[in-house]
Amino acid sequence: MAKETIALLGTGTMGTGMAHNLLAAGFGLRVWNRTRDRAEPLAERGAAVASTPAEAAEGAGILLTMLADGEAVEAAVAGPSGGLSGLGDGALWVQSSTVGMDDTDRLGALAAERRVAFVDAPVLGTKQPAEQGQLVVLASGPEEARERCQPLFDAIGSRTIWVGEAGRGTRLKLVTNTWITGLLGALGSTIALARALDVDPEQFLGAIEGGPLGPAYARLKGDMMKAGDYPTSFSVTLAAKDVRLARQAAAKAGLDLPLLGVIAGQFAAAADLGLGDADMAAIYEATRRGA
Ligand SMILES: NC(=O)c1ccc[n+]([C@@H]2O[C@H](COP(=O)([O-])OP(=O)(O)OC[C@H]3O[C@@H](n4cnc5c(N)ncnc54)[C@H](OP(=O)(O)O)[C@@H]3O)[C@@H](O)[C@H]2O)c1
Repeated sequence: MAKETIALLGTGTMGTGMAHNLLAAGFGLRVWNRTRDRAEPLAERGAAVASTPAEAAEGAGILLTMLADGEAVEAAVAGPSGGLSGLGDGALWVQSSTVGMDDTDRLGALAAERRVAFVDAPVLGTKQPAEQGQLVVLASGPEEARERCQPLFDAIGSRTIWVGEAGRGTRLKLVTNTWITGLLGALGSTIALARALDVDPEQFLGAIEGGPLGPAYARLKGDMMKAGDYPTSFSVTLAAKDVRLARQAAAKAGLDLPLLGVIAGQFAAAADLGLGDADMAAIYEATRRGA
């Protein structure tokens, strides 16, 4: 059976990695990005680069969005030049940007207005897993859409976890992000304390490595903090957005999570230091003595 044509809106860090794997898996690919230059290199690999989201969506079986936040997704899919208006009958929409619970509901309603099936499928993993097709897809949506989405998910990820109706994937993503940002905040404070006490951070990383206390994540982000060099896999700005989304979801559920308040403050301080586009590991710069 011929593979679907995918319309991908958003060729940032994650979208670009996903695009390469979709092309390698033999999907037809039409792409749109607000800053066209960032999408152009994909033309050399066989993607069609469109001038509007609607043009990208024309003739596509699946619309895939991988944009910064809910506002960006809405701007790209709604209106006469938006992705939804370019889709034909029977197409479906896979929404993989991290947008939180309220925006997921709102975007799902937009899809319903256009009678487009909506699959809420945020992903775990960062730049390198996206490039290697090793993301974990937290998929949720109508039963009928699952079989059709699976080849796409198999191309971009190593694992798909189906968790129920649309919105459940986003909930699991917020929970997982809380774990990740908590680890990162703890790591920033730990390395700051090590340096303040004249303990080599490498001694700490080496001491926890390979045991239950030492996730690979500590080495990955700890090496960036040690070097003070933050090549971006996931930016401070987007990580701060994710903390905000988790806090909003917690508040709505009647839960106060003070740890996330502290981490939000540290991300804001890192952004004030001009590090908004740097990797989230730059939270360390807001924590270390003298920052
Ligand atoms: N990076 C990660 O580790 C990671 C992991 C899991 C999930 N995510 C989530 O995946 C999504 C994309 O992340 P990323 O790291 O790929 O981000 P990124 O590299 O910053 O790319 C953001 C994308 O959104 C577009 N965009 C931003 N504002 C827009 C607007 N108002 N209208 C239209 N397009 C807009 C950008 O277009 P321009 O090129 O024109 O700026 C770009 O295509 C985010 O929701 C993020 O939270 C990221």
